[in-house]
Amino acid sequence: MVRRTADASHRRRRHIRRVFDAQVREEWRRYAGEPPRILRRTLRERFLRRHLRGSSQTVLELGPGPGRFTPILRRATRGRLVALDLSLEALRSARRRARRRPRLSRIDWVQGAGECLPLRARSIDEVVAFGNVVSFAALDGPVLLKELGRVVKPRGLLLADFASPAAATQEFLYVAARRRLLGRILRHPDHYFLDRVLTTGLQPLAPDRLARWEFRFYTAAEAEKELARAGFRMIDVMSVAPIAAHQDRVAAIARREERTWETLLRIEERVGRRPGVFEMGDGFLIAAVRK
Ligand SMILES: C[S@@+](CC[C@H](N)C(=O)[O-])C[C@H]1O[C@@H](n2cnc3c(N)ncnc32)[C@H](O)[C@@H]1O
Repeated sequence: MVRRTADASHRRRRHIRRVFDAQVREEWRRYAGEPPRILRRTLRERFLRRHLRGSSQTVLELGPGPGRFTPILRRATRGRLVALDLSLEALRSARRRARRRPRLSRIDWVQGAGECLPLRARSIDEVVAFGNVVSFAALDGPVLLKELGRVVKPRGLLLADFASPAAATQEFLYVAARRRLLGRILRHPDHYFLDRVLTTGLQPLAPDRLARWEFRFYTAAEAEKELARAGFRMIDVMSVAPIAAHQDRVAAIARREERTWETLLRIEERVGRRPGVFEMGDGFLIAAVRK
């Protein structure tokens, strides 16, 4: 087993904080504009609406970033929503947006880390960790999940997304092709960690090799195992857009009419829940209950 020093964990979090402080706008745009992006966002929103219970007193949003999903969580919270992020700039941006909807439930904005939450044990009814927060924790992923297991009440809910190796590689090559880098990458797969990501699921930080993050990819089985170790039982898993995530034309054509868009969403949700495709889309979403 690979052991991490406290220093390495601290350095990794500082790097994440700096990058997200500097790219709040880009983060907001991640789910806007082109139809495939809207598809990924809408499937996440529908997953949230399907699972959030709507009666919870205290909800934690871990890594809200600029607050893309915060209004949905806020509407589903009866008492207090805690929005906790490493990045102060992300929190500021999310708070500015939230101020435009003052009548919804109260939000506490907290700068902090998921690996050491400033929250009491068994104080949270529901946690949402969207945006690959567990994958960003790299080798500290199990620590972060265990910490969530500590603060969530028995029978409480965890909703999270995970990045998977095959889908991430597909996305990486797709973006590389658009930037005319594909040939270079396929000529030197080791240099760009392609083999390593596929065999170990681990990507080290190396910006000169297009690896901007230290990152841990998961299969659905690995995620389920880590969740169980942290005290959670998985109750739902769904690949995000396994059909159209990387097919611009499919999403663009479906987007032209409300009815065709709804059909595509339903197909994605059905196919995305079939065993064998969990790792094929834009990562996968899980719902889990604290045992
Ligand atoms: C990719 S953004 C996702 C934002 C939003 N949840 C979404 O899905 O659009 C990830 C956010 O998580 C935060 N983050 C990453 N690792 C974290 C950690 N260990 N603890 C707290 N926040 C973290 C980052 O600062 C960033 O704002």
